This record gives sequence, structure tokens and C-alpha cells, in this order.
Amino acid sequence: MSARKGVEREFPMPIVVVVGGQWGDEGKGRIVDLLARKARVVARYSAGNNAGHTIVNERGEFKLHLVPAGIFYPEKTCVIGNGVAIDPDVLLGEIENLRAKGIDTSKLLVSDRAQVIMPWHVLLDQLDEKMRGNAAIGTTGKGVGPCFIDKVARRGIRTADLLRAEDLGPRVRSALEYQNRVITGVYGGEPIDADQVIARYTELGQRLAPFLGDSQSAVLEPHRRGEYVLLEGAQGSLLDLDHGTYPYVTSSVPSSSSSGAGLGVGIGPTDIKRVVGVFKSYCTRVGNGPFPTELFDETADRLRDHGKEFGRGEYGTTTGRPRRIGWLDAVSARYSVRFNGLSALALTRLDVLDGLETIKICTGYELDGTIVDTLPARQSVLDRVRPIYEELPGWTDATSEVRNFDDLPKQAQAFIKRVEQLLECPVDLISVGPAREQAIIVNPIF
Ligand code: GDP
Ligand code: IMO
Ligand code: MG
Repeated sequence: MSARKGVEREFPMPIVVVVGGQWGDEGKGRIVDLLARKARVVARYSAGNNAGHTIVNERGEFKLHLVPAGIFYPEKTCVIGNGVAIDPDVLLGEIENLRAKGIDTSKLLVSDRAQVIMPWHVLLDQLDEKMRGNAAIGTTGKGVGPCFIDKVARRGIRTADLLRAEDLGPRVRSALEYQNRVITGVYGGEPIDADQVIARYTELGQRLAPFLGDSQSAVLEPHRRGEYVLLEGAQGSLLDLDHGTYPYVTSSVPSSSSSGAGLGVGIGPTDIKRVVGVFKSYCTRVGNGPFPTELFDETADRLRDHGKEFGRGEYGTTTGRPRRIGWLDAVSARYSVRFNGLSALALTRLDVLDGLETIKICTGYELDGTIVDTLPARQSVLDRVRPIYEELPGWTDATSEVRNFDDLPKQAQAFIKRVEQLLECPVDLISVGPAREQAIIVNPIF
């Protein structure tokens, strides 16, 4: 409150960001589906359909790539912000699938300032990965990287451009004049026909038109009325373009650092009061790049195949690739807590650790005889570090039916307390299963 009477700019309810703390697939969709109960608006702020968020609730099991995880509550507004790269074909297909399953999508709003993934982006993603050979990033191949490259190169096409052929035509022709030279000259690929693209994307634009609008007002107006707003992150902070394990990262800003979240919907950092980091009780990664605690033994197979018989093992939601598995890495996790400015942790898949005799947490790295407790910037160094582990006793009782912290096995409680100490952040939410109700709320986030 300012001392002088005048215009106030204080809003009672915080905007809460949910961000992935590791290399993606931490269970963000599942946590957002739970927290959305109290929110008025749920907005995705970054990435594209490289994301895959699994939600299990009373309506069934769903895998969302672009639509926010709040969509299962018919009264909530769901927003796809300007920071998201949108493949219109994929989005319209996702909307149709949801509708076919009886899910109301009428309150979905898509930013008219969002970048569009065009056919050349998908082609370039695949051609570029092929050219990189052994140094391939292991992208999802959905065109997200090349789309963000064009955004920065000021060559991108935005959702609003799809509305009129008169706007779209010149932009596509100009983009393809450049991109076809790259496709044929650099990669030896086949050029793309501009007329076909213009016709197809004008038609997609017409179908997308009813959803287009201003993501900023959709987020800020309810916030100013005192309602809760939830911003849903995609991917994980260690895939962040700035802070992640570069160059094995994605091409957008998954973290909330420098308000990547605010940037992606059109609000400023002072409106965001809380950032919740979702972390698995261990680590996974899909795609290539450093992973100091990676395991190649039967513990990895056991963790990967937990729930496989129900299609719930550690296999990519978007690409189906087996996820690489490792112990919880407190070094990279603490780094992630710090650059995201996290206020709380949501720890997921605790139940997957049930029955293990011992559980390890990496508390530092060994590098040429010295101990390192921060994440090195150089990839060649990161490839050489050896994890230093602390061993904790495991537990035998199943945790998936537990709903109170005090009812967890003592060893599980000790594990969680140790995670809090090492990550320097409180665990406010614990997930013990994929379904909405399989959660222990230690401290309400809203
Ligand atoms: P996201 O991309 O962060 O939303 O995560 P994904 O959906 O790609 O991957 C997380 C997987 O773990 C999904 O299959 C979820 O259904 C599942 N999941 C989430 N939380 C839990 C949990 O606490 N226990 C178990 N067993 N599965 C969970
Ligand atoms: P969610 O939201 C896990 C990874 C890819 C690859 C790298 C770059 O489900 O957590 P890209 O296609 O983005 O250019 O690929 O980033 N990646 C993800 N990994 N979960 C995701 O999303 C991911 N999105 C991108 O596997 O290593
Ligand atoms: Mg995922």
C-alpha cells in the first residue's frame, strides 16, 4: 500500500506458477489438475506440443500436449499463452479428442500473439537432428526448436496472421523464400510449396478463430477480481535455454526465472507470488545430454517399468521413448530451486520407490579428486563428474493409499525431510499415485 491515497496496485490472491524442476515429465499435469480445483484460470505459458502431460481423474486418463490441465473443470478458463508455440493441426485434433470424450472446451482461449509451428519447422527439426548425427539433441521432432528460432529471427508467423489469407500469404511466401533455400541448400531436402501451405493454414486459421483472444486480459482480469490463477509450465528447468544443460536443452524458457512464466502470458513479475517446483522422487530424462546420476542397472529397469502393465511406465508421453532413469540429483535440483525462486516443492511418484531396500540421493559431484556442489556449465565437465551418494533406508509398506504425512512410513518421512534440507525448500505437496486424489497436502498451496 502506498502512503499517498491514489491508485492501488495490490491484488489479494497470488498467481501461482507450477514449473518442472528437473528434465521434464515430473508430473506437472497431474499437479495442475489437482491445484486447478481452486483456480479460476489455468494458463500454459511456454513450449509447444513437445510437452506431454498425463492426467488421471474421474473423467479417465488423458494425455495433453497443448491444452492446459485445467480443462477437466468446465467452469475454468483455460488459456494457451503467447509464449506457447502452436501447431494448429495438433491443437485442433486435441480439442476434437477432448470433445469426443465429453470434455467441454468452450472456455479455452488461445493467444492471438502465439507463434505457429509451420510445416517447415517440423521438417527442419528432423533434418537438423539427422545432420547432427551422434551429437543429435534427441528432440521430440515436433518443430518446436525451429519455430522459436524463427520467433527470435523475427520471421515467425503468429496465430493472428492465420485469420486472413491477405496477411498470411506474404508472410508464408517470405518465410519460404528463405527456408526453402535452407532446406534444399543446407540439408538437401525437398522444398515446400507456398500455395498449398497458404490454403491449408488459412483453413486451419478459420477453425482456430473462435478460440483466439488476448491471454493477458484472460489472466489479469480474474486476478484483479481476487480469483486464483495458475500458470502451467511445460518441460523441466534443466532443459531451460539459459540455465539447462546446454546445448542439450529445449528452445524456450520452461523455468520461471526472469519471469519466463509472466513473459509467456503477458504479465509482469510482481503479479507472481508463488512458484511451485514439481520434482520426481528420483530423476528421468528423455533425449540426449548429461545425466550424472543415470542408472543402467536393474533398479533403473524396476523404476522404469513400475505400472507398465497399465501403460504407466517411464516411457515418453509425446514420443513413447523409454525415459533414462537415475537417482534424485540434489545438486542440479538445488540449482533449479534457486534459479526458479521456488517457494515450495511438489514431490511426485513417491510410491514408485516403495519396496526398495535403500534409496540414494546425490549430494555432490566428484571431479578430479575435488567435490563440486553446483552444476558445472561445461558439458565436457558435466560428462565427467561422478555422483557422490547418501544412502537412506527404504520402506516396505505401500504409500499409494496414504493421505497424511504422519501416516507415511518413517523412512519415507525421513527421505522427504532430507530432500527439503538438500533442496533448501519445503515440500508442500506429495504425490503417491497418478490419480487426482492420490496426494498428501502438507501445506495448502492456494
Ligand atoms: P508431465 O509432463 O510433467 O506432466 O509428466 P508426464 O505426464 O509426462 O509423466 C508423469 C507420469 O507419472 C504420468 O504417467 C503420470 O500419470 C504419472 N504420475 C504422476 N504423479 C505420479 C505419482 O505420484 N505416482 C505414480 N505412480 N505416477 C504418477
Ligand atoms: P513435458 O512438458 C521431457 C526434451 C526432448 C529433448 C529436448 C529438446 O512433458 O515435461 P525439443 O523437441 O523441445 O526441441 O527437444 O527437450 N523435451 C522434453 N523432455 N518432457 C518434456 O515436456 C519435453 N519437452 C522437450 O526430449 O531432450
Ligand atoms: Mg511429460
